[in-house]
Amino acid sequence: MRVPLLDVRRQNQPLEAGLSAAFERVLRSGQFILGPEVEQFENAAAAVAGARFGIGVSSGTDAILVALMALGIGPGDEVICPSFTFFATAGCVARVGAVPVFADSCPACFNLDPAEIERRVTPRTRAVIPVHLFGQPADLDEILEIARRRNLAVIEDAAQSFGAEYRGRPVGAIGELGTISFFPTKNLGALGDAGLVVTNDASLAEKARRLRNHGMHPRYFHSVVGGNFRLDALQAALLAVKLPNLPEYTALRQQHAAEYTHALAGMAGCPAIAISTPAAHPDRTHIVNQYSIRVRPGPAWRHPESPRDALRRRLAERGVASEIYYPVPLHAQECFRALGPHPALPAAEACAAEVLSLPVFPELTAEEAAFVISEIRQFASEANG
Ligand SMILES: Cc1ncc(COP(=O)(O)O)c(C=O)c1O
Repeated sequence: MRVPLLDVRRQNQPLEAGLSAAFERVLRSGQFILGPEVEQFENAAAAVAGARFGIGVSSGTDAILVALMALGIGPGDEVICPSFTFFATAGCVARVGAVPVFADSCPACFNLDPAEIERRVTPRTRAVIPVHLFGQPADLDEILEIARRRNLAVIEDAAQSFGAEYRGRPVGAIGELGTISFFPTKNLGALGDAGLVVTNDASLAEKARRLRNHGMHPRYFHSVVGGNFRLDALQAALLAVKLPNLPEYTALRQQHAAEYTHALAGMAGCPAIAISTPAAHPDRTHIVNQYSIRVRPGPAWRHPESPRDALRRRLAERGVASEIYYPVPLHAQECFRALGPHPALPAAEACAAEVLSLPVFPELTAEEAAFVISEIRQFASEANG
């Protein structure tokens, strides 16, 4: 059986009539840049994130860039972010001329360890970017408490967590600004690149709105240097067709996750291959953008290849796709070598060496999920004896 990591066609094909109608509407309107399609989607999406303001932008990456620019972060500033995350979180900090300061994560739930912020803060620190990784909110209360005490802004990188809740509140606008991605792999995926900045702060919203359009207001008058970070009207119209289905997409992901967790429970102490399922905090919702297990060698593991890589290879031989999000922590990336030698971040390094993300897209069938589970169990039982 072939099980893909993600098949966007299964999600988009049933919506073809609505998506085609949206395309035709935009085509006939002749309004391709900003305009009412963008505004309507911004309002609807901001409501999902519990935010007063939503500013549509060209990607989740550009959302982070605009958020940093709106806060005036630049050369001489430091921004604390996790090392175990997608590159964009720290890449944007470097792109505005500030220094990304890497912090370690919780090895069980994969999110930024709040205690690390205190360890890394300096008089130059301006902001912290907690990432709600894989779909589960970070420890926002602890992070916000430290941020308030240390006078740091909080940008929530909610690229993977659109619609997730922390203690009953949607993530995104709990900190000063939040950034969301609609990259096709996300729970709400565009038919291309798209993103959103959210905030409850009217002044930051106004800055972000200006910055995404060359810092221009009124037309051809530039009070600040911005860029072209605009969301296309076409992507906004297509996303608006998919948005009402987001709760169903997420519920299906959560069902698959519950099934995986049930079937793979009790394997964390196995002698050769120890498999742990992702820790879920009861006070927040996990929207399961990724379902990531950790695969560790036990004392009886005798091969030079890591058990994670061996499992991944075996799954691929059997037709099951999986992915390593992320194989190299950011503090070890070549492009950040110029920052100087970095102290070890043991949890981030362990996560990079041990995580494996399984197919968990909403349209995964029961047979496919059962096949993935049986292949993992069989591989583990052969190794564990
Ligand atoms: C944690 C995180 N931050 C930022 C981004 C950037 O989003 P985009 O791909 O839309 O630019 C992503 C997307 O993969 C992400 O996972």
